[in-house]
Amino acid sequence: MSKYLIAGNWKMNMDIDESISLVNSIISNDKVEVLICPPSTNIYSVKNAINNSIKVGAQNSYYQENGAFTGEVSNQMIRSAGAEYVIIGHSERREIFNESNDLINKKVKSALANQLIPILCIGESLDERKSDQTNDVLSKQITECLDGINNEVIIAYEPIWAIGTGLTPTSEQIEETHKFIKNYVNDNFSYQPKVLYGGSLKDTNAQEILSINPVDGGLIGGASLVSDKFNKIIQIASELS
Ligand code: PGA
Repeated sequence: MSKYLIAGNWKMNMDIDESISLVNSIISNDKVEVLICPPSTNIYSVKNAINNSIKVGAQNSYYQENGAFTGEVSNQMIRSAGAEYVIIGHSERREIFNESNDLINKKVKSALANQLIPILCIGESLDERKSDQTNDVLSKQITECLDGINNEVIIAYEPIWAIGTGLTPTSEQIEETHKFIKNYVNDNFSYQPKVLYGGSLKDTNAQEILSINPVDGGLIGGASLVSDKFNKIIQIASELS
């Protein structure tokens, strides 16, 4: 298996000084790929504060190159600030900012055109999980978000109901869903994507979740803001490697 990718999604937290101090307390090692996604304003400072063993990414970007799009930041801009990855289609962007699969598709294409590695987030709501619609929801998100895209992308499976709630699916559900995603992408796009799990992944459940065979890493929100917890997850991933 390729290296685990342990990615921290800091969301709208940390100013410049806080970002530098947090990133300086992260202990990486060469068995694991560690990625930090700070707010866009801090990408450049974080990139300059770290050594090359930690990668930096953005949490969002816009698909146009430049122009009259007040408040937006392009993929070319985050790339020039030092980002190598970009999270696209996080459920908070879908829910709070009304991002559609069509917009997300344009963003993935633009990220790839700018040599960024997209991390496409997909996931079902609790109602959808309870009414057995998970696979339908995920396959629709994959089909529409990756329409016309042949390059490989990383997928983050993030059940909406698990994000920031302390709830997680059972290990069996995570295993089944990751397998479903890999097979679906393989059947429709002819490659086996790296699939990260996200949603209340913490130091206390990382051992169990990262041990599940088709889990290739994690996208971590809350626990990535506390260096001891994030370091513990990195350590667990390196011991499992
Ligand atoms: P959480 O967030 O780890 O705080 O649940 C994960 C995410 O939103 O990517």
